[in-house]
Amino acid sequence: MQNCTPLAQLPFSQACENNKHAILTHLQQWLTHTTQVLEVGSGTGQHCVFFAENLPHLRWQPSDQAHYLDHLQARLQHYPLNNLADGIELDVNQSWPQLADAIDAIYTANTLHIMSPALVEVFFVGCGKVLANKGCVVIYGPFNYLGEFTSDSNAQFDVWLKQQHPLSGIRDIEWIISLAKQQGLILTEDVAMPANNRMLYFTRT
Ligand SMILES: C[S@@+](CC[C@H](N)C(=O)[O-])C[C@H]1O[C@@H](n2cnc3c(N)ncnc32)[C@H](O)[C@@H]1O
Repeated sequence: MQNCTPLAQLPFSQACENNKHAILTHLQQWLTHTTQVLEVGSGTGQHCVFFAENLPHLRWQPSDQAHYLDHLQARLQHYPLNNLADGIELDVNQSWPQLADAIDAIYTANTLHIMSPALVEVFFVGCGKVLANKGCVVIYGPFNYLGEFTSDSNAQFDVWLKQQHPLSGIRDIEWIISLAKQQGLILTEDVAMPANNRMLYFTRT
């Protein structure tokens, strides 16, 4: 690990540390037969290093927009796992990278409320294109139900998100389900998670 940036100097998300064990519990159930996961919006890389280490039967492919890749790659250098690929550039609004092997799962956490509604739409179109026929999509994050926030803290978070970018915001689950359905993806499980988040498991059979 020559010229490796010390872990303590890399971007760090306390939320990732808080939620990774609870997320893993569901990934262990849903990704039993998965061979390759494409992660969209890997961010700091804390999730991918933890999930690759704990799901050794599959290959984990991290990705993010170009300006995230240096820090993402710097974290990956600390985790030389056989089943963890180097981070690749993936902006959902551009052409998605081709991988050598089939992608039978797509995972993304805390991204759909950051992306604009137009980007959320292209995210699902991209999933539909690159996912193997019988693949699944797993999404973690906060969602609204019947147009309502599920907590005061989510309502406050939505205000904060819109201050950062007017097109960001917590998405309606009904809209997400309809976008997924257009790609043949059916909501198979919707699990309540800590801190008013949800984990959505879409499958295509
Ligand atoms: C709040 S961070 C979440 C990072 C990480 N998944 C986590 O749970 O901590 C939002 C992520 O969405 C990604 N993102 C935003 N717009 C994107 C786009 N157009 N294409 C791909 N990723 C995007 C960002 O680059 C960033 O990694």
